[in-house]
Amino acid sequence: MKGDRSILVTGGAGFIGSHLVERLLGRGHRVIVVDDLSTGHESNLEAARVMGGDRLTFIRSTVSAMSNRSDVGPCDAIHHLAAAVGVRRVMDRPMESLETNVVETAAAIRMALQWDAALLLASSSEVYGKSTKLPFHEADDVVYGSTAITRWSYGCSKALDEYMGLAAYRAHGLRVVVARLFNTVGPRQVGRWGMVLPRFIEAALAGQPLQVHGDGMQSRCFADVRDVAVVLDQLLETPQAAGGVFNVGSDRSISIQQLAELVLRCTGSHSTITHVPYESVFGSGFEDLHARQPDLRRMREVTGFATTISLEQTIRDVMASMGACVSKESAA
Ligand SMILES: NC(=O)c1ccc[n+]([C@@H]2O[C@H](COP(=O)([O-])OP(=O)(O)OC[C@H]3O[C@@H](n4cnc5c(N)ncnc54)[C@H](O)[C@@H]3O)[C@@H](O)[C@H]2O)c1
Repeated sequence: MKGDRSILVTGGAGFIGSHLVERLLGRGHRVIVVDDLSTGHESNLEAARVMGGDRLTFIRSTVSAMSNRSDVGPCDAIHHLAAAVGVRRVMDRPMESLETNVVETAAAIRMALQWDAALLLASSSEVYGKSTKLPFHEADDVVYGSTAITRWSYGCSKALDEYMGLAAYRAHGLRVVVARLFNTVGPRQVGRWGMVLPRFIEAALAGQPLQVHGDGMQSRCFADVRDVAVVLDQLLETPQAAGGVFNVGSDRSISIQQLAELVLRCTGSHSTITHVPYESVFGSGFEDLHARQPDLRRMREVTGFATTISLEQTIRDVMASMGACVSKESAA
């Protein structure tokens, strides 16, 4: 999509949304951010404001309340990122999280249909549930645990979002693309809702123990948010991506124990690493995945994108964004 288009970013004051807003402004678009600031912060948009001037509009609202306003839109495209995010938050507020993830997505789809706008839905690797078939391919079956276990409701709510978006594509020709994001990390992510990397870096910088859940052998793949923002933009502007589901992230796998050790090396911290049973963090019956790794062939075929920022670089940038100095030794 060429510059000078009008693009709505829901959840644009959040972690990923704010980086995406900068990317879109940098490409010459006008951007409207709608965010209720439930987990996002207006301060995340400081750099975007400098960059975009009057091309950036911020509206503090839920998506559904905004969709009833006649003074907003039509926009050419919508990136729908607003959601209740993070296993911790969903465990703490299950009903509210489910409602946000389903009702607000339905509102975003209705808006896109009304405006004839292209729509990107930010889905999640949690959609795969507890599948053990690695790497996760978009066409794989999804496998969930019992509905009595709240943890799976996040993945199910995102799966429902996907069903709704794909139904609108088939029934009404909605130009929708589903991005299944894997672990995304970088500056502005907060550890409050259980996100592992900011938790580890905060602890390392404070000289506190890094708390690894379980034995730490569970593995994940972490992509830098600035790379992810590029892919989201590319996916929405690629016509042949419409109606498709795409894994988005990195396929470099690392165990959580190794991640903790890497954080200690990169920060030069002398903190210790402790192991905490899942039950003491999430309550009894909590199920986690041993490994999660995306098959990225679809994403690469359509966008040609390869990650540009290493995990080590991301850790240093997150540290710097937390106001910590990067010593020459740890930067080496
Ligand atoms: N961070 C990750 O690793 C990751 C992984 C998989 C999927 N995702 C998806 O990416 C998207 C962005 O996640 P994030 O990590 O930036 O989280 P975030 O919490 O920083 O961003 C979500 C934003 O949505 C806003 N929001 C929440 N409910 C809203 C509502 N009803 N109306 C308007 N705004 C609302 C929040 O205030 C926040 O700014 C989410 O859809 C999430 O499910 C993220």
